[in-house]
Amino acid sequence: MSVHNSSEPATVVRAATGAQCAAAIDAPASRSAAVDSVASGSAASAYEGDAAYAHKFCILGAGTSGLTVLKNFKELGIACDCLERADDLGGNWYYGQPASSIYDSIHLISSKRLTEYTDFPMPEEFPQFPSRRQAWEYIQAYARHFKLREAIEFNTAVERIEPAGDFWDVRLADGSVRRYRGVVIANGHNWDPNWPSFPGEFRGTVLHSSQYKRPDVLVGKRVLVVGAGNSGCDIAVESSRYAARTFHSLRRGYHYLPKFLHGKPIDACGERWLRWRVPLWLRRIVSKVLVRFAIGAPQQYGLPKPDHKLFETHPIINSEMLYQVGHGRIVPKPDVAELCGERVRFADGSEEPIDVIVYATGFRISFPFIDQRHLNWRDGRPELFLNVFHPERDNLFIAGLIQPDSGQWGLVDYQAQLIGRYLRALDAGRPSAERFRRRSRAVRFDLSHGIHYVKSPRHLLEVEHYSYRQTLQRFIAALR
Ligand SMILES: Cc1cc2nc3c(=O)[nH]c(=O)nc-3n(C[C@H](O)[C@H](O)[C@H](O)COP(=O)(O)OP(=O)(O)OC[C@H]3O[C@@H](n4cnc5c(N)ncnc54)[C@H](O)[C@@H]3O)c2cc1C
Ligand SMILES: NC(=O)c1ccc[n+]([C@@H]2O[C@H](COP(=O)([O-])OP(=O)(O)OC[C@H]3O[C@@H](n4cnc5c(N)ncnc54)[C@H](OP(=O)(O)O)[C@@H]3O)[C@@H](O)[C@H]2O)c1
Repeated sequence: MSVHNSSEPATVVRAATGAQCAAAIDAPASRSAAVDSVASGSAASAYEGDAAYAHKFCILGAGTSGLTVLKNFKELGIACDCLERADDLGGNWYYGQPASSIYDSIHLISSKRLTEYTDFPMPEEFPQFPSRRQAWEYIQAYARHFKLREAIEFNTAVERIEPAGDFWDVRLADGSVRRYRGVVIANGHNWDPNWPSFPGEFRGTVLHSSQYKRPDVLVGKRVLVVGAGNSGCDIAVESSRYAARTFHSLRRGYHYLPKFLHGKPIDACGERWLRWRVPLWLRRIVSKVLVRFAIGAPQQYGLPKPDHKLFETHPIINSEMLYQVGHGRIVPKPDVAELCGERVRFADGSEEPIDVIVYATGFRISFPFIDQRHLNWRDGRPELFLNVFHPERDNLFIAGLIQPDSGQWGLVDYQAQLIGRYLRALDAGRPSAERFRRRSRAVRFDLSHGIHYVKSPRHLLEVEHYSYRQTLQRFIAALR
C-alpha cells in the first residue's frame, strides 16, 4: 500500500480501504488494459500506486442524486465508490447538517408521485406532499432496499478532482489521492447561499434561508424576508404565525399556485395536460382561469402584478401566501433600497424598523473541488449535454444539475440510467454509444421546451420536466 508522503507529488494513490460497490464486476476488457497500463507505470507521469480504483467510477455525494447513480451503476455492473463527506446519506434532506438547506416544517412542493424514483414508489400512506421526515424515511428506505449503504464511504470529503490522462485523481481531505476511471459529480446546487448586497449596514440578525431551521428566531420580532422563491414564501408564511410583523420584499410580481386544485396536487393536474399534449399557450390560459377562479389574482391581495407570463419563472407553489397577505399578516414590500442600521428603506421610499432579515435569495452554482475549465463553464454554469454529459470527456458527468418545474429524484434516476447505459455501450464498443456521442456533441436541446424563462441566475438550470423526462427516456431506449 502506498501512502501519502508530503515530499511526493499529489498523485500518489492510496490502496483500496473503503467500501466498494457491492456489484462491482470485473473491469471490462478495454478498461482492464487501461488499468494494466497504469499499474505498470506507462500512463500519467507521477502515478506510483496500485490500480485499486482505476477501473472504478467515483460518485461524489450521497444525496438523492448520488444515491440513484450508485443504485443504477450497481444494477448495470459498473464498478464504483460513493464518497460522502457527511456521516449519513440524504444531502439536502438530512436535516440540520451543513449540506442541508431545509427547515423543520418543510413539506415537498412536488407531489410524491412526481418526485419518487422510477422503481421505488413512496408508500400509499404518505400524504401527497410528504414532510421532511417522510422524505428522509423514503430516501433511507431506498438505500436499504437496494443495499446502497455498504457502497458509501461516509465522513469522506473530496477536496479536489483533476484529470490525469484518461483518469481522474481524486484528493480526499486526509491528503490521500485515488486515481479513478472517472467521476460522477452529485454535490447538489442548493447549498451555497447567494447573499445579496444592498447599500448601507444592518445591525439586527441576518440569516440566509439555508440557515433558517425553526421559528424561534422570529418569535415576537419584526421580520423582513427578502426573495420570493419557494423558500421566501414558505418562511414568510411561517413568520406570519410567530413574528410581531412580517414584511416580504419582492423585486418583481409573481404568480402563486396553490398546492391543490380540485382536490388534486397541482403538478399532477399539469401532468395530465402535458400527457394530452395540450400546447403551452392553451395550458397557460386554462391554468390561469382555474387559478383565478379558485384564488384570484395576486394584485387583488395587494401584491404586485406579475411582470411575466405564467410558467416563465420557477413555480411558486404555496396555498397560504395569499391567505396571510389577505389577513395583513404578511406585508408586501418592493426591493430593498438601503439598510439603515435598525431600519430598512425600500425602493418606494417607505421605511420600517426591522429586527431580523431572512435572505431567501437562492443559491450559487458551485463546484469548489474542480477547476471550472474542466466543466465547460459558460455563462455561470457548466454547459453540458442535457446538463449531464461533458462535450469532450466520457469520464466526467454531473447528476442532479437541474431545477425542474416538478420533482427531481425520478428525473435524476433517468439521468443515472442514461449515464450507466452509455458507459456500458462504450465499454462493449456498441455503435449505439458512438451514435449517442455524436448526437450529444452536435445537438443542443431546448430544456425549457419553448418557455422563455425570466432572465435571472436562478433559471440557469431550469428544465421543463415532462419533455426532459421524455428525452432521457428516448436516449435510454436507444442505448439498450
Ligand atoms: C428548501 C428546499 C426544498 C426543496 N424541495 C424540493 C421538493 O419539494 N422536491 C424536489 O424534487 N426537490 C426539492 N428541492 C431540491 C433538492 O435539492 C433535491 O430534492 C435534492 O435534494 C438534490 O439532491 P442532490 O443529491 O443533487 O444534492 P444534495 O441533496 O445537496 O446532496 C449532495 C451531497 O453531496 C455531498 N457532498 C458535497 N460536496 C462534497 C464533497 N466535496 N465531498 C463529499 N461529499 C460532498 C453533500 O454532503 C450531500 O450529501 C428542494 C431544495 C431546497 C433547498
Ligand atoms: N417546500 C419546498 O419543497 C421548497 C421550499 C423552498 C425551496 N424549494 C426549492 O429550492 C430551490 C431554491 O429555492 P429558493 O426559494 O431558495 O431560491 P430561488 O428559487 O432561487 O428564489 C430566489 C428569490 O430571491 C430573489 N432574489 C435573488 N437575488 C436577489 C437579490 N439580489 N435581491 C433581491 N431578490 C433577489 C429572486 O428573484 P428573481 O425572481 O428576480 O430571480 C427569487 O425571488 C427551488 O428549486 C425551490 O423550488 C422547495
